[in-house]
Amino acid sequence: VSLKPYNTFGIDVQASHFVEVRSVDTLREALALEGVPPPFILGGGSNLLLTGPLKALVLYINIPGKEIVREAGNEVVLRVMAGENWHELVMWSLRQGFGGLENLSLIPGKAGTAPIQNIGAYGVELKDVFQSCEALDMASGKLRRFDREACRFGYRDSFFKREGKGKYIIVSVDFRLTRKEHQLHTSYGDLQKELQAAGITNPGPPDVARAVIAIRQRKLPDPAQLGNSGSFFKNPVIPQTLYDDLKKQFPELPGYLQDGGEVKVPAGWLIERCGFKGFRQGDAGVHEHQALVLVNYGRASGQEILGLSLDIRKAVLREYSIALQPEVNVI
Ligand code: EPU
Repeated sequence: VSLKPYNTFGIDVQASHFVEVRSVDTLREALALEGVPPPFILGGGSNLLLTGPLKALVLYINIPGKEIVREAGNEVVLRVMAGENWHELVMWSLRQGFGGLENLSLIPGKAGTAPIQNIGAYGVELKDVFQSCEALDMASGKLRRFDREACRFGYRDSFFKREGKGKYIIVSVDFRLTRKEHQLHTSYGDLQKELQAAGITNPGPPDVARAVIAIRQRKLPDPAQLGNSGSFFKNPVIPQTLYDDLKKQFPELPGYLQDGGEVKVPAGWLIERCGFKGFRQGDAGVHEHQALVLVNYGRASGQEILGLSLDIRKAVLREYSIALQPEVNVI
């Protein structure tokens, strides 16, 4: 099976075995199959760079369904099965009048994989609306519920990327949203500007969603038009001492002080200053409006994209002594 339709980079690689999973029972059955290669869990394929053929039993987790499990006072708890498309979920929740997911509009991917890297944008992270998730323990076949603490969320990070890696498959996620009084997060620079420009002074969740969508459509390529996996690297978090040193040399270097005293530096800025914004080599390139996003102009191989990413890392390391870490999973 070609995985081209299943990864937003649009990389054409073959998988030796492939099963579309529509229920937890099918998932258990697939995991119990004998004489097949080890499983590879695939969600929306939106955070993935495939660099060669996969000798694996690809389990495409496409379990549908969502339900309201509790509604009381200002709170609503929504249970969403892993296969639900993320952005459609956000739009649906807004149509119900629920608040909480608006800043996370237009993020590619599926609900079930959102907790793994704690998706985040415009001042909100998944952990802010996360109540719990249910995951299948691949070794025992049993379901286990993880609350927020058990997930150990960090910046683009969670238990499922670390100790739990390769051990669990998330089958559903519970979100805690608001029904009437919403807590909006509009202080992210770009978002504030967008709302102001639209003349909106007292926004509701749908206004915030519209603003986020407008910003994303301007800056980020639509994977349906131009293959990409969003930010290719994480924004590096560096010690204050290194930041101060760099700042002497590069006075315009942006930096955001973190809770622990370290400084988060925008990788897009570093990459742009190294001259890569809009750069193209064959069909692999760096997006013209967002240097943190690598793109596939059509027929780039995963190796070519990976090669470009390594060139970028080398350049940033040479210029700024900062080792960028990939945000996407390179397979
Ligand atoms: N910048 C540049 N040049 C560029 C891009 C960015 O100089 O080409 C600098 C600017 O100083 C800008 C700053 O970087 O003010 C921040 O840029 P932006 O608001 O576009 O956000 P980002 O840090 O590049 C992060 C997330 C995005 C998320 C946005 C908005 C990561 C790795 N990425 O990007 O998430 O949408 O913030 O919150 O944290 C993703 O993870 O795939 C993703 C798209």
